[in-house]
Amino acid sequence: MKEVVFVVFLVLLVIVSDAEVTKPNNGNFLRCLHDRTRQENPITEALYTPDNSTFVSTYVSYTKNKRYSNPNDTNLITIIAAKHESHVQATVVCAKSNGVQIRIRSGGHDYEGLSYISSVPFVVLDMHNLRSITIDVSSKKAKVQAGATLGEIYTKIAEASKTLAFAAGVCPTLGAGGHISGGGYGNLIRKYGISVDHVVDAQLVDVNGKILNRASMGEDLFWAIRGGGGASFGVILSWTINLVEVPKTITVFKVNKTLEQGATDVLYKWQLVSSKLPKELFLRAMPQVAKGAKSKGKTIAVNFYAQFLGSSTKLMKIINKNLPELGLKREDCYEMSWLNTTTFWADYPVGTPTSVLLKRPLEPPGAFFKSKSDYVKKPIPKEGMKKIWKTMLKFNNVWMQWNPYGGVMDQIPANATAFPHRKGNLFKIQYFALWIDANATDANLGLMKELYEMAKPYVSSNPREAFLNYRDIDVGSNPSGETNIEEADIYGSKYFLGNWKRLMNIKAKYDPKNFFRYEQSIPPVRAM
Ligand SMILES: Cc1cc2nc3c(=O)[nH]c(=O)nc-3n(C[C@H](O)[C@H](O)[C@H](O)COP(=O)(O)OP(=O)(O)OC[C@H]3O[C@@H](n4cnc5c(N)ncnc54)[C@H](O)[C@@H]3O)c2cc1C
Ligand SMILES: *[C@@H]1O[C@H](CO)[C@@H](O)[C@H](O)[C@H]1NC(C)=O
Ligand SMILES: *[C@@H]1O[C@H](CO)[C@@H](O)[C@H](O)[C@H]1NC(C)=O
Ligand SMILES: *[C@@H]1O[C@H](CO)[C@@H](O)[C@H](O)[C@H]1NC(C)=O
Ligand SMILES: *[C@@H]1O[C@H](CO)[C@@H](O)[C@H](O)[C@H]1NC(C)=O
Ligand SMILES: *[C@@H]1O[C@H](CO)[C@@H](O)[C@H](O)[C@H]1NC(C)=O
Ligand SMILES: *[C@@H]1O[C@H](CO)[C@@H](O)[C@H](O)[C@H]1NC(C)=O
Repeated sequence: MKEVVFVVFLVLLVIVSDAEVTKPNNGNFLRCLHDRTRQENPITEALYTPDNSTFVSTYVSYTKNKRYSNPNDTNLITIIAAKHESHVQATVVCAKSNGVQIRIRSGGHDYEGLSYISSVPFVVLDMHNLRSITIDVSSKKAKVQAGATLGEIYTKIAEASKTLAFAAGVCPTLGAGGHISGGGYGNLIRKYGISVDHVVDAQLVDVNGKILNRASMGEDLFWAIRGGGGASFGVILSWTINLVEVPKTITVFKVNKTLEQGATDVLYKWQLVSSKLPKELFLRAMPQVAKGAKSKGKTIAVNFYAQFLGSSTKLMKIINKNLPELGLKREDCYEMSWLNTTTFWADYPVGTPTSVLLKRPLEPPGAFFKSKSDYVKKPIPKEGMKKIWKTMLKFNNVWMQWNPYGGVMDQIPANATAFPHRKGNLFKIQYFALWIDANATDANLGLMKELYEMAKPYVSSNPREAFLNYRDIDVGSNPSGETNIEEADIYGSKYFLGNWKRLMNIKAKYDPKNFFRYEQSIPPVRAM
């Protein structure tokens, strides 16, 4: 199959760019916005140009990664922080007709800043004001707007019911717009899959400025925005999601093992069992650089974080049977409500009031970071683990997440949604380096490449799979304003595997002139 695709690409080796290669006309763009929104919902209060005193603070408060958060480094013309759906429609229509590029931002957590930077003149369409959440307990459904954060969604669900939850990520400030359209991975994955597995409807503004829902967009576009990333297809206004059932009491723990305490052996055994445990149990392992007694003051500590949909008594039994090496003690376990587990996973100490889940970013970001991902299909031998530790010890601050698969992920077909990484994975790795000093950027980026190279023999290959939500510009990318199909094939096959061709076809059908484009967007190509 791969060869066939490649031949198609050689023939089509062209650069897709906007058919109307007009120079962006900013004045006309702004006039167009005012004209289209004049009556009931004037757009003025949603518009931030560089003349507005709050332009910079509005820009940086939703830039999570300090590497990309300097507005002086971008070609940003205007921020439209939409307050009404008509503002979104007007932005799309006016940007298209005036040759202006847009970046769509909900929570601003894109690892590579692709929701708020561009090397060609652009506007940010910011969704954070559109954040309503309605819960219907009787049908176990919720409707959430794109700008709602996970912390707000979790809080509203818990206010409505103590036994309903949503399968999504662990960081409370993630935006529903980007997070869910990229897959939405979290600690209910083994029991319930990921966010897109529970999306039953969506509202989207398409390239013509029309608001579509599932019925009017059709099943192929609805399939694509569940895992394909919304930003290649349109602007997500809202999702309708199914809520899932959880017990009133959930058990969590954190247990720490350093290399000196046998971390390598315990983690090796973890690789053999973690994807086969009961699906109510999610046991994440986080190898990280930590202060140690020996080895130049540094060691590797592996933090094991667990969530079990049941009591601590039952959890103790399961762990003692399958992973006694962990040495789990009763006092390591905490029983709590599902909402309280979300603060536990966000690394707040047990007992922290859940109001922290509602905090929105007010400050510019404090840290620089870089992330990468991998999928692992057979256990990494201990020699391989030791090589990885050695490379990690070269960093000041780096951690990995080893996130177990199995459970329902083995049962959901890879083409059920656009998110393809399902059966056959033992676990997914996230690599994450964080630094505070701008001068350390080159060193950290270099070390991340070295670590990724070191892991290569032990992870998926042909292609080396990557997770869209863990955006990594190194897996392939295009310049901001154009889409080279051959380059797109490189990142697209890693992010989307067998779903790649279908995504391109859907793109060709709904956005044939490639208005919704960015550095890792899906090109409009009719591929066989
Ligand atoms: C601290 C942290 C923790 C994380 N934890 C997890 C986790 O547990 N699980 C997980 O799966 N991921 C996790 N991620 C990754 C996260 O899911 C992605 O970065 C996700 O894209 C963030 O969505 P956002 O709306 O906040 O980001 P944004 O930066 O606003 O958007 C990300 C992408 O989605 C597009 N987009 C945003 N809104 C819309 C919209 N309304 N319509 C169309 N396209 C849109 C953007 O253009 C961009 O391409 C984490 C990231 C961070 C920084
Ligand atoms: C930005 O400034 C313009 C011009 O002074 C004003 O009309 C607009 O309301 C300001 N925007 C915001 C969000 O305050
Ligand atoms: C951006 O440029 C302005 C004007 O030169 C300057 O005052 C400001 O400090 C700069 N901002 C950053 C974050 O570098
Ligand atoms: C794990 O152990 C390391 C090394 O002792 C320590 O630095 C780190 O803070 C510990 N982490 C947790 C969550 O206990
Ligand atoms: C949740 O956490 C709050 C704040 O610490 C605490 O008061 C409450 O008892 C906890 N509830 C449950 C069920 O865990
Ligand atoms: C997924 O692939 C299978 C087998 O090729 C096919 O029968 C099924 O219709 C596909 N499902 C979707 C949702 O496209
Ligand atoms: C970073 O480098 C610059 C230029 O070399 C230097 O002036 C500055 O002190 C350095 N900052 C830190 C925190 O080391």
